Amino acid sequence: MISLNNKHILLGVSGSIAAYKSAELVRRLKDAGADVRVALTKGGAEFITPLTFQALSGNPVHTNLLDTEAEAAMGHIALARWADAILVAPASANFIARLAQGRADDLLGAICLATDSTIAIAPAMNQQMWANTATQENLQQLRQRGILQFGPGEGDQACGETGPGRMLEANQLAAHTANIFETGLLSGRTVLLIAGPTQEAIDPVRYLSNHSSGKMGYAIAQAAAEAGAKVILISGPTALATPPRVERINVRSAQQMFDTVMQHVANSDIFISTAAVADYRPINIAQQKIKKTKDTLTLELQRNPDILAAVAALKNAPFTVGFAAETESLEQHAQEKLERKGVDMIAANLVGEGIAFEADENALLVLTAENKQQLATASKFMLGRQLINIIAKQHHI
Ligand code: CTP
Repeated sequence: MISLNNKHILLGVSGSIAAYKSAELVRRLKDAGADVRVALTKGGAEFITPLTFQALSGNPVHTNLLDTEAEAAMGHIALARWADAILVAPASANFIARLAQGRADDLLGAICLATDSTIAIAPAMNQQMWANTATQENLQQLRQRGILQFGPGEGDQACGETGPGRMLEANQLAAHTANIFETGLLSGRTVLLIAGPTQEAIDPVRYLSNHSSGKMGYAIAQAAAEAGAKVILISGPTALATPPRVERINVRSAQQMFDTVMQHVANSDIFISTAAVADYRPINIAQQKIKKTKDTLTLELQRNPDILAAVAALKNAPFTVGFAAETESLEQHAQEKLERKGVDMIAANLVGEGIAFEADENALLVLTAENKQQLATASKFMLGRQLINIIAKQHHI
């Protein structure tokens, strides 16, 4: 099963009879878990209507560059940023020529110029047009610029000829698109992650906890799996679905999380501590529900073990990555935690009302003993991938 879980795929459709296959492609991409938006060129719209793509993708279809209303809703720059990858299928000979020239006089061209995400094209054209030196030179230029090329296949063509130039089938294109995200950077490695809040029981029906949603940790777990790692995610209670190919172990309290980490840490190469572990737990857990008999109630609390510091202090410690959630003086506190906990890397973020915890976006300051890097505000999935890339690089040093 291919996975494009939570990926934003911008599907560009240019003018070719193969555009009819793109309707099926939207289906396959969505089946794999992607959120799909379609940018249709003028030529593409001659072959298939925006309404078809709107119905299949569940999103408005983007056609015009200079339409003030459309630009206000989600303009070319916003679309370029939104996309985790751009797939142009079909890519006609004309579109390929325009892309090679860097033209920005229509919406799809402008998006391709404005993005720093991976662009892939699925050529579709008559075999003679395909073989033409002009087309081949354009393709060579695009490959040199890092643009991926899926296909074309060979066989019967709509024009009655036979040869190369057929667009690949929808399921093949969806599989190639999923491969864009499979970096293999951590293949053969085991990543142990803790995520989400912990719950510290007060009595059989109450607990102490925090606002952590687990989203950042789950996004990193997904990115690690996409990088080819075996991923064990030890999770406090969250409402999130387990990312594909991630082994999840559910726990509630900090002590359970600590014990479970210690069972698995010896076989791990990398430990990432995104969990918002409760620092304290009630010393006594009431056996029965506490009754409101008095005007005040005092709970006596006891320090929980610091999981991150304990892992970092192990003799054969894995590469350890901690998080620092701060409400002020971010860099200073993060630096201090890096040293105090003896970890290899700290990813620090500001938290507070509406920032970080329950949000889908975040920004991170990544510190090691040698350097610091600011990762600008982006989706937690995007940040997860960036962080995994940095960790993989450091880990291989
Ligand atoms: N952490 C942990 N075990 C704990 C507390 C925190 O493993 N009992 C980890 C978190 O997962 C995070 C890092 O330590 O990776 C920093 O957590 P944070 O709450 O920001 O810091 P604290 O250690 O609680 O320090 P302080 O109270 O000074 O903010």
